[in-house]
Amino acid sequence: DTYDVGYFVGSLSSTSINRVLSKALIRLAPKDLRFTEIPIGNLPLYSPDYDSDYPAEALALKAAIARSNAVLFVTPEYNRSIPGALKNAIDWASRPWGQNSFDHIPAAMIGASIGQIGTAVAQQSLRAVMAFCNARQMTAPEAYIKFTPEVFGDDGDVRDESTAAFLGDFMAEFREHVVRVLTVLPRG
Ligand code: FNR
Repeated sequence: DTYDVGYFVGSLSSTSINRVLSKALIRLAPKDLRFTEIPIGNLPLYSPDYDSDYPAEALALKAAIARSNAVLFVTPEYNRSIPGALKNAIDWASRPWGQNSFDHIPAAMIGASIGQIGTAVAQQSLRAVMAFCNARQMTAPEAYIKFTPEVFGDDGDVRDESTAAFLGDFMAEFREHVVRVLTVLPRG
């Protein structure tokens, strides 16, 4: 069996350190996880006016989540919360009312910052949002990554053994979480 993981990179930056982190995570993940990025950069700003007629980008977003067995958020911290682009994508996916794409989905989150706190506050904010969206979040282990270019190569190679081990363990735990949630009750 393989598990399809849709992942969100919370940054729209062309030089995003969180995108680099996502590449590292994919490299270090168990081989039965298959990763597909779910893009958020081309979505209009959500309005309930769209509920009766979602635009193509938003339908594609919801379809991508529906195809995923689980979702992974790799996000920066913006002003002690999550970037607006990511919140906008979550708002789109959670609607129209009664068609919340995240209902019961296994989920995990991780993020990198250049500062010491490693997106801890953003992740707390994201946990509250995803709790309301009724996702099944992995609550441990947590992962707050301080990004340094010495450790993370652009293509996702991790040059520090203990960091690689930590990230590999995080992804192994995520796999266990996904299997556990889906074993109790598959989505559908
Ligand atoms: C930041 N940054 C930041 N860092 C942090 O640790 N806590 C924060 O609250 C913020 N706030 C914040 C707001 C805005 C608008 C920007 C542009 C940046 C710095 C942030 O960690 C840094 O820019 C990272 O490089 C962002 O991740 P990506 O976009 O490179 O993946």
